[in-house]
Amino acid sequence: MLISVAFFREIEMKSGAMNRFRLTGRTAVITGGSRGLGRAMAQGLAEAGANLILIGREADALETARRELEALGVWVGAVPGDVSTPAGAEQACAAVLNLGREIDVLINNVGGRRVDVAVEDTPLEQWQQLFDLNLTSALVCCQRLCKGMLDRGRGSVVNVTSIAGPIAIKGIRGRHYETAKAALGALTKSLAADWAPRGVRVNAIAPGVFLTAPNRKWFAEKSDFQAAFVSHIPMARMGEPDELAPAAVFLASDASSYMTGATLVIDGGYTLW
Ligand SMILES: NC(=O)c1ccc[n+]([C@@H]2O[C@H](COP(=O)([O-])OP(=O)(O)OC[C@H]3O[C@@H](n4cnc5c(N)ncnc54)[C@H](OP(=O)(O)O)[C@@H]3O)[C@@H](O)[C@H]2O)c1
Repeated sequence: MLISVAFFREIEMKSGAMNRFRLTGRTAVITGGSRGLGRAMAQGLAEAGANLILIGREADALETARRELEALGVWVGAVPGDVSTPAGAEQACAAVLNLGREIDVLINNVGGRRVDVAVEDTPLEQWQQLFDLNLTSALVCCQRLCKGMLDRGRGSVVNVTSIAGPIAIKGIRGRHYETAKAALGALTKSLAADWAPRGVRVNAIAPGVFLTAPNRKWFAEKSDFQAAFVSHIPMARMGEPDELAPAAVFLASDASSYMTGATLVIDGGYTLW
């Protein structure tokens, strides 16, 4: 009886909707895959069967993630690199391509509100650097890593934007972040339109506030700020990084085969009020 249940479940997986989430045999590149939301998405993709190439600056953290993810039975490559400058992003992409694997999925995850400075006090050079981190890094990775996808007529790009972009987050400065993330959202839609006839889908995930290790520490030090943030969230809590992973699997896989140019907002309802 047990054998036949397993057998029918297997058939169902091969022909049914759940099978479309499988990423077995595909390779996904994740910028910033060693920690935080990128690490959580890497876990989800590996659990769905994808081989991974992780990019990050710190070699030790990268190697730890590589080993932990490899234990899930997939192949995992690690590329130490800093994508925050166009030259660094080019270098990291060249190292990825040197691994010689066909890339099926690209997750442009690196980014962040690195400085909390008002727009009127932000030096132009710093503004440009933060744009390179949040926007140009994704552009360079798309340019360099998606050529094979376009040639083969199949692939999926997922850009990690933010709820900051369509709205300005209250009580914080550093509006380079909102501006660059809004531009990344626009790049997502434009590329989606341009690449749709060539079989490559481009979508985005817009996270709300998630309890990555640095955020957990930051909010623990600023409990007033934490309470103010949570009061903006209808679900009355921040997200856990692993709550983002299923969305990454969905957009990376054939489960979202008729979706392009879309943004999945995952924010506990933050942007509803
Ligand atoms: N966390 C949130 O609540 C939240 C909310 C909305 C949107 N987001 C967006 O989600 C994405 C991930 O956020 P996160 O909080 O997980 O970020 P994070 O903690 O700053 O970094 C996560 C990963 O990125 C790598 N990384 C950072 N800078 C890099 C660089 N210049 N070059 C290569 N790798 C780099 C980190 O490794 P190394 O430090 O070793 O390089 C780590 O693996 C970002 O785009 C962020 O804007 C996050």
